[in-house]
Amino acid sequence: MSLHKINPTETKAWKKLIEQKHNLSTETLNSLFSKESNRLNYLSIKWDCFDVDFSKNILNEKTFNLLTELAEECKISDSIKMLFDGDKINETEGRSVLHTELRNFKTSNSSIVADREKIKSFSSKIIDGTIKGCTGKKFTDVVNIGIGGSDLGPKMAVEALKFYKNSLNIHFISNVDGDHNEEVLKTLNPETTFFIVVSKTFTTQETLTNANLAKNWIQKKLDTKEIQNHFCAISTNVNAVKDFGIDEEYIFKMYDFVGGRFSMWGSVGLSISISIGYDNFKKFLIGAEKMDIHFKESPIEKNIPICLALIGIWNSNFLGSHTQGIIPYTEYLNLLPSYLQQSMMESNGKNIDRSGKKVNYSTGNIIWGGTGTNTQHAFFQLIHQGDKLIPCDFIGFKKSLHGNKDSHNKLMSNYVGQMQALMKGRSLYEVVSEMKSKNIDEETINKNANFKVFDGNKPTTSILIDQLNPESLGMLISMYEHIVFTKGVIWNIFSFDQWGVELGKVLASKLLTEIKGGEISTHDDSTESHLKKLKNIS
Ligand code: F6P
Repeated sequence: MSLHKINPTETKAWKKLIEQKHNLSTETLNSLFSKESNRLNYLSIKWDCFDVDFSKNILNEKTFNLLTELAEECKISDSIKMLFDGDKINETEGRSVLHTELRNFKTSNSSIVADREKIKSFSSKIIDGTIKGCTGKKFTDVVNIGIGGSDLGPKMAVEALKFYKNSLNIHFISNVDGDHNEEVLKTLNPETTFFIVVSKTFTTQETLTNANLAKNWIQKKLDTKEIQNHFCAISTNVNAVKDFGIDEEYIFKMYDFVGGRFSMWGSVGLSISISIGYDNFKKFLIGAEKMDIHFKESPIEKNIPICLALIGIWNSNFLGSHTQGIIPYTEYLNLLPSYLQQSMMESNGKNIDRSGKKVNYSTGNIIWGGTGTNTQHAFFQLIHQGDKLIPCDFIGFKKSLHGNKDSHNKLMSNYVGQMQALMKGRSLYEVVSEMKSKNIDEETINKNANFKVFDGNKPTTSILIDQLNPESLGMLISMYEHIVFTKGVIWNIFSFDQWGVELGKVLASKLLTEIKGGEISTHDDSTESHLKKLKNIS
């Protein structure tokens, strides 16, 4: 079965939600909180180690009920079933979307089970030194070479879980930037360095360029033609990997039913398993699987991914925000915003609906963010006092990992305080009263008071988790994957293709021959002048 093709703006709920937006135009978060004593009951969900509170969003009970009706009218339950049943819902590529199968411990897919065993045994052998470099030394460093989904997921998870890491150091090379490649390699000892080349297609320019640089480095430094001991690959393109010089035994599978940006739950997660050990990697999968079950089985109004997707749709399609901040209050999650940029923007940055027509409503948002409290001292000024509505997800943990209570209390008081400030704001009256209480003269008050006013009424969602560990990280990432899916279903777009990344690649490869020495063909004036400058022609 294929996903339904329902224009959300033609549903009854959408029309009522537009009315609802007008009805709420005089309300603020402060007024909504004073009117609704049950607000936290229906706008928060406690599940497993998650406390999700979306009550600081500008909506009331009627809005929330209409949003759940919107999900129903857009057939979310049917769509979830199609996803998990493996229906070919990636219609433009004729593929199923089964990344959830990679973390399904009851899967009937024997190949996936075998992959897990291979990840387990391979990562254990790298960790305990059974697999050694060609000079007989134990590996100390592992370099993951891949880009996009073959990089961002494992890089984020390795960083997020570094509290659980062993003595191996994991590095990532993605960009086709020779300087970066050199900067990474120059710190490493070739005898003790192992490379994982991750590329579904094994044709990606960036990855193959970096993999070949690494291969030359090993061959030159170790004076060998053999690279087998120092490389493995994760790919669907077995022949190309063998041509590169890697034995079949060192090739891990990828599947056409798993998109790059959803792939770290399988072999692409090898670097994660090497970094934290397979037992921890398994817990990461178990966490994600638990969230899958919650998503599949919970009613809409208590379903975390669905509710957060609906809140996102309310904020963007009805309140007009085009951007969303992701603010984790832990340095461990500093790569989460860039990971989510691919997950959300590559999936839902589409303007053609499932019937092939241009959409007449807003779809995927601009995703950005950084860690609290650093971002409070950077871009929060604009969120507090700028002219744009920027809903933010705040992600925090009840307990720190190393146990410094004093720092953690300060960190988390900022977490709560920022959300409170964004909601409540500070009125002119409050500003003036405060200035008066400090005996500031009237002229200064008149001159400066307006600058100190905060409008407030800025929406935030809090995802408070007991502690950061492999399982809770798995839950968090799986939660965001299902938010992406739910939004795509309601927006009536195909979330699992990525045609938008093609054109630039094709043009770049044509231009490369011109930059390398070929004739410059006819282009627009700007492109032509760039080519001339790069080739040093005046
Ligand atoms: O960015 C586009 C994309 O196709 C991603 O979906 C994918 O993760 C990445 O390129 C890398 O592709 P590959 O794994 O084939 O090298």
